[in-house]
Amino acid sequence: MLSFAVVIISYLLGSISFSIVAARLLKGIDIRQHGSGNAGATNTLRVLGKGPGITVFVLDILKGVAAVLLGRWLVPDSEWVPALCGLAAIVGHNWPVYFRFKGGKGIATMVGIMLTLAFLPGLYAGIAAIAVIALTRYVSLGSLVFSVLAPAFILMMNLSLPLFWISLILCAFAFIRHRTNIVKLVQGRENKLGAKKGA
Ligand code: G3P
Repeated sequence: MLSFAVVIISYLLGSISFSIVAARLLKGIDIRQHGSGNAGATNTLRVLGKGPGITVFVLDILKGVAAVLLGRWLVPDSEWVPALCGLAAIVGHNWPVYFRFKGGKGIATMVGIMLTLAFLPGLYAGIAAIAVIALTRYVSLGSLVFSVLAPAFILMMNLSLPLFWISLILCAFAFIRHRTNIVKLVQGRENKLGAKKGA
């Protein structure tokens, strides 16, 4: 019962969309109608600028960290519950109950979850993603690289099965949420970091 409750709480926590809140507070707009239309840190950076973009990125990461820590704290003997709390936070971020179920793509929150659940795989995947973004200036490509490498490193390092399965599901979610980005990457129309207008 407690396990179920903590997973639901993680979903509710994940549903707090900092990019939507920031855009409403700072500009009185719905971020989902601007830039790429995504309720995430990259689009916040694009639409609202560096300060709000970085703030949303950090808060989205912390949301993932908090969900996993909450699971660990309330159900300390389980490996599954903290991992499921992370998954629930991503579901909340992507499909937020407070914002008509139209949220973001979950990468910053996945970074927080991975660094808390499996620090080294998360760190290595993060470094690789930053390198990809620095080289190509495609945040979406870096995000996809991160989401593939996190479960790959967990597997290579022979870590626990709950970690591997949850990270694999998060990877699948990342690809589902980046469908439009993938099409644009293939067509060479994807937004580059620093380019002003998004579509
Ligand atoms: O994590 C989101 C990022 O990968 C892409 O964001 O706004 O360019 O679709 P966006």
